[in-house]
Amino acid sequence: MSLLRQPLLLLARSAAVKKMVSTMPVSAGIVRSYVPGETTDSAVEATGRLVDDGLRVTLDHLGEDTLDAEQAEATVAAYLDVLAALSARGLTRHAEVSVKLSAIGQFLPESGQKIALENARTICRAARNAGTTVTLDMEDHTTTDSTLSILRELRKDFPETGAVLQAALKRTEADCRALAHEGSRVRLCKGAYLEPEDVAFQDKTEIDKSYVRCLKVLLAGEGYPMIATHDPRMVEIASSLASRYGRAQGSYEYQMLYGIRPEEQRRLAAAGETVRVYIPYGLEWYGYLMRRLAERPQNLTFFLRSLISK
Ligand code: FDA
Repeated sequence: MSLLRQPLLLLARSAAVKKMVSTMPVSAGIVRSYVPGETTDSAVEATGRLVDDGLRVTLDHLGEDTLDAEQAEATVAAYLDVLAALSARGLTRHAEVSVKLSAIGQFLPESGQKIALENARTICRAARNAGTTVTLDMEDHTTTDSTLSILRELRKDFPETGAVLQAALKRTEADCRALAHEGSRVRLCKGAYLEPEDVAFQDKTEIDKSYVRCLKVLLAGEGYPMIATHDPRMVEIASSLASRYGRAQGSYEYQMLYGIRPEEQRRLAAAGETVRVYIPYGLEWYGYLMRRLAERPQNLTFFLRSLISK
């Protein structure tokens, strides 16, 4: 693991640094390579371009960890807005949304869990009416039980709702078994958060081994695996496991983040695979960008340069 990963992930949680960096105009800098824009229109435009290239999309309205009920409601409104815009542009067959429960009230004091569930229900209903789906992003391990329990509730009315599981967590192989059933959409990623040793593998090789074990469970299961990684080795292993388990193309999909390995996204799509690009948009790019820099600290120089040159 890079020596810079831990400090960068700690900075991702720092409100003071967030405030300082977020006020700086870095719109032309590295932020733009990961986030196509701040508005619904910019997100929908980026979606249209990717769909024209044969890709699918999941849209994330940036924001997390809110302790303000009005902010949570504003986030719900932003999702309703983008779903309406996708529908108006005829894009909902190819584009869905990804939602962080902490952005829609999960951490609010007292009834956070209940408020997040009701807010998620509102978004799921709007997505269903627009002809598309919702995937619940997964945040750090302290939220896993709460998120999976909200998912179970939502699936009673919206069984198409997708989940995310993180291979870095030791519990995830068991969670994959529990969710590898028919109709279940599960995005498998490595995990983007700083996690303690008692719950998470620390070593990259251990995380990769866990990713492969989880892939086996999901691809051998009855659900719809969403293989979220940019790692060429993981993509290759997923492809051979899909053949081993008799999975036809389209019975699973690959997912990558906007701006990361775009040529690989197109190569896989040209080979007949379903490929979905995760597009984050909005003003609250700080935490997202810090997690991307933690994964690829060589980009830190570009980021610092873009701050200085403004
Ligand atoms: P890893 O970071 O180990 O990189 C492996 C290899 O991939 C690198 O050696 C390089 O070859 C290639 N690579 C990686 N980044 C690159 C870059 N910027 N440019 C070029 N090559 C690069 N996490 C989470 O905790 N909760 C969530 O809900 C989600 N959701 C999510 C959705 C989608 C669609 C994706 C793709 C990812 C997530 N993640 C996530 C993030 C995920 O957990 C993880 O942090 C990142 O995907 C990075 O892990 P990789 O699997 O890409 O491999």
